[in-house]
Amino acid sequence: MYRDVSSCNSYNYGDALYWDARYIQEGGSFDWYQRYVALRPFVRKYISTNSRVLMVGCGNAVMSEDMAKDGYEDIMNIDVSSVAIDLMKKKYDHVPQLKYMEMDVRDMSFFPDESFDGVIDKGTLDSLMCGTDAPISAARMLGEVSRLLKPGGIYMLITYGDPSVRMPHLSRPAYSWKTVLYIIPRPGFEKPAGSSTKSNLEPIPTTDKGLLPPDYVLEDPDSHFIYVCKKTDDTELSNATVYPLKADVL
Ligand SMILES: C[S@@+](CC[C@H](N)C(=O)[O-])C[C@H]1O[C@@H](n2cnc3c(N)ncnc32)[C@H](O)[C@@H]1O
Repeated sequence: MYRDVSSCNSYNYGDALYWDARYIQEGGSFDWYQRYVALRPFVRKYISTNSRVLMVGCGNAVMSEDMAKDGYEDIMNIDVSSVAIDLMKKKYDHVPQLKYMEMDVRDMSFFPDESFDGVIDKGTLDSLMCGTDAPISAARMLGEVSRLLKPGGIYMLITYGDPSVRMPHLSRPAYSWKTVLYIIPRPGFEKPAGSSTKSNLEPIPTTDKGLLPPDYVLEDPDSHFIYVCKKTDDTELSNATVYPLKADVL
């Protein structure tokens, strides 16, 4: 079952009109899932500050502003919502490190191949997965992300989707991605007394299919998953594990 609709509500998160209406109504800023401060160790480890970064589905999040304050020099932000992009263009007019463009992640043909060192996705693939044509949208989006990454580049996906519902999409051989998984609790989660002291900064050992080991227990059942996908060259690919795709993914 690759279409995890468990976290989709009745709204159509895959629909630009839904997001436009939401951004008109709410104004201000909001970061889904996690703020940059919690993601910083992963972002800094895998994406250097002089990288050309693409933030897909930026919404009205503060993430890119925080990254710019942390030294990132070049962040292109895109979103399908014209309302969000207009708001963000005005807000960050004076910040040369941040650029904003209205664009659908399923068609980023405006950018030439291998334009970016890093692509960051916090909640955008998740939104597409809630749409009616989810598997096709996901394949289009990830195909575009793969095309835009330079060899050695990183696609960092921050999502509520565990490996059973995300790895079938991320492990398509056409992308040549090698994936490392991290799991972090939702903000404010308090560990039960006596629970493990293991650091969240350690990668999670996965099975040869990229799945969680059967006995793996999530400390926080509403944890967030960070997939760090590195675009490999052909030599590295020959050693990579391929997760077989089933017919219902497309
Ligand atoms: C869950 S919100 C996450 C926003 C932001 N990344 C954050 O972390 O707070 C998903 C965002 O994806 C955008 N989005 C949805 N479908 C899209 C598409 N096809 N192309 C580009 N952006 C899209 C929405 O407009 C929304 O801003």
